Amino acid sequence: MLPRQFTTVGLTAAVVVGSLWLLLHSLDFSPRYMQGFYPPHRDRYNDSEWYTSSLTSLPPRCRKNIVVASAFPFHFDVYMAAAKTIGDVLDSQPEDEEERGTIHLFTPDFSFGFDDIAEELGLWKHRGTRGRPEELGNFTNADRGASGIDLIVFGTCEVDLPYWHDELVAAWDSRDAEHKFKIVCIVHNVEDTRWQEHITHWARRGAIRLLPIADHVKNTFRQKFNAIADSSDAGLYTAGYQHIPIDVHAPILDIPYLPIKPVPRQLVYAVIQGTLAANRRDYLRFFNDLIASLREDAAAWGYLPLNGRTAFEPDFESRIPPFQLLLVGAGAIEIPAELAFVVTVHHDLAYKDFYTLVANADIVVPAFAPLGYFRDQASSTVALATELAVPLLVTERLRRTYGYIDDARAVVTRPAAMSEVQALKALRTGDASAFLNSDPAGVGVAMGGVKGVREAVDRMLKDGWARDPEEWMEWRQDVWDRNWMVVDRILRDMP
Ligand SMILES: *[C@@H]1O[C@H](CO)[C@@H](O)[C@H](O)[C@H]1NC(C)=O
Ligand SMILES: *[C@@H]1O[C@H](CO)[C@@H](O)[C@H](O)[C@H]1NC(C)=O
Repeated sequence: MLPRQFTTVGLTAAVVVGSLWLLLHSLDFSPRYMQGFYPPHRDRYNDSEWYTSSLTSLPPRCRKNIVVASAFPFHFDVYMAAAKTIGDVLDSQPEDEEERGTIHLFTPDFSFGFDDIAEELGLWKHRGTRGRPEELGNFTNADRGASGIDLIVFGTCEVDLPYWHDELVAAWDSRDAEHKFKIVCIVHNVEDTRWQEHITHWARRGAIRLLPIADHVKNTFRQKFNAIADSSDAGLYTAGYQHIPIDVHAPILDIPYLPIKPVPRQLVYAVIQGTLAANRRDYLRFFNDLIASLREDAAAWGYLPLNGRTAFEPDFESRIPPFQLLLVGAGAIEIPAELAFVVTVHHDLAYKDFYTLVANADIVVPAFAPLGYFRDQASSTVALATELAVPLLVTERLRRTYGYIDDARAVVTRPAAMSEVQALKALRTGDASAFLNSDPAGVGVAMGGVKGVREAVDRMLKDGWARDPEEWMEWRQDVWDRNWMVVDRILRDMP
């Protein structure tokens, strides 16, 4: 049976929602969090002194009987990353195993081989009941007392809250004041507003919090909620929107067996990952830039000049092997004839093959189309590239927008004035002179004459594109530590 609502919204949402993720600068840490009140590394969770001090000064972990649920048949890599962090936090409770808590799962079957990934990565710890989405209502009502469920985490709230709202309102009302559950909404796209009317009910009861996957989605929701809090409509300003907690959880998985890559190495394989549709990624612009650059200097890319042929042909004598662009995602897209030997398309892969393919590449290129990836929704590419230890080619703006990637250990930063193609060429050859000597606006000032741009290019080339695996691991641990703190606060009912 298809979930109610799903038939009408599911496929649209599958296409539109696509992706997402997270964090650093705007986590509202109190100074105490910053002063190492929480352990920066996991081995310290077992530090008895730390336990003693934290247990006496923090509210208890009152949320222990947790459901992770979704009626949406995608995004399991996102919400199971959150399930993993919840499991990690429960692990650290210094009490008996049974006292730590339980995680129940009410979702459709995982597809594209994600079951194996979930198993291998141990994403579902402290296992309770595995149910189907339509069974969650009865499950929630089975025990309305102290051992009933006390927290429900929705994987795609845009779909999930409308699906369960009525049932959960009844379930919530039927409990006494001591045994109300709370809802955590993993959200993906601020512009998807169908579900948002339901927030008012739960906000008024202090029973909802949001968990987007990147900073900008958090910030945009915060602005939106603050505006609603100032509304003149008594039905809205009375609901306490200003006080709805919003945190960020970066869905970075611990993918095993990442390839060990030689350092130094050459930049050969670039990936653009995402739905193969022109409104999701700016394939057309990228192709045009690449063709223009190949026409200008085919050798830099490891190709022969066209010389009347329809496609650039690989130059097997090239010092650096011919550049390859991998398009990875669902759907289909027409490849310009000139790029027949440059571009390969890989679609509808099982998760394992997908991870292997991307992890073996050298760099991931976002190539975002202007679809709100900087304000309303987060792209899956950002988490995907960084969790696979493949550097992502970004601008300062993208770093700051997503937050958790605002870190040189995980990304390569190009100046905005330099296109992705120009940056790839410069990183590949170590030579940015063609770009620096160019004057695209025809104003008599070459790009290298603009001080900020020139310095940013110098920095980019100096830092190179390959990232140190150990530094990357430290970055990833920092992301996980912040995820851990976020979930710990949720389980302690802290704002
Ligand atoms: C935690 O510390 C105790 C006492 O030092 C030790 O016996 C136990 O193995 C440690 N547990 C873990 C998970 O490291
Ligand atoms: C929920 O419980 C009711 C009453 O026991 C039952 O009739 C119904 O079939 C159950 N629903 C599901 C989806 O299991």
